[in-house]
Amino acid sequence: RVDVAELVRSVVENRRHERGPLLVILHDLNDQLGYIDSTVVELVAGELNVSRADVHGVVTFYTDFRTEPAAGVSLKLCRAEACKAVGAERVVEHAQQVFGVRVGETTPDGSVTLDQVFCLGNCALGPAAQVNGKTHGRVDENRLVEILASAET
Ligand code: FES
Repeated sequence: RVDVAELVRSVVENRRHERGPLLVILHDLNDQLGYIDSTVVELVAGELNVSRADVHGVVTFYTDFRTEPAAGVSLKLCRAEACKAVGAERVVEHAQQVFGVRVGETTPDGSVTLDQVFCLGNCALGPAAQVNGKTHGRVDENRLVEILASAET
């Protein structure tokens, strides 16, 4: 689990010197956490010494901020050597195309978050993927869709 307070502190620290840092800070946090909820709003307000209403106003004005954690499927594809050797990159390409996101992003509806990992300890059965914490082997373009469909039920 991410330590949200710690993450907020470090992001604010990195951006504090910028002009009008609030928006970039919120973008960084949205990218790294995947959402800006009321806890994050409060922490950011505290760090920047502005009111919660100010931060909240920016969050709600820009619709690209998610205001709660995505409840969707977390899909992690292994891109380490052994899996690469058996076609992992094709699976990554395919997933990016199907979901219209890049690695590290969540679909706009929040249904799927695509991430990469480097070795799931399942090298003999590559390409490996992890869906909501469960590891799957021999994943190809077709199986990917099956695995995701079963993950949602
Ligand atoms: Fe993919 Fe080990 S390299 S599971």
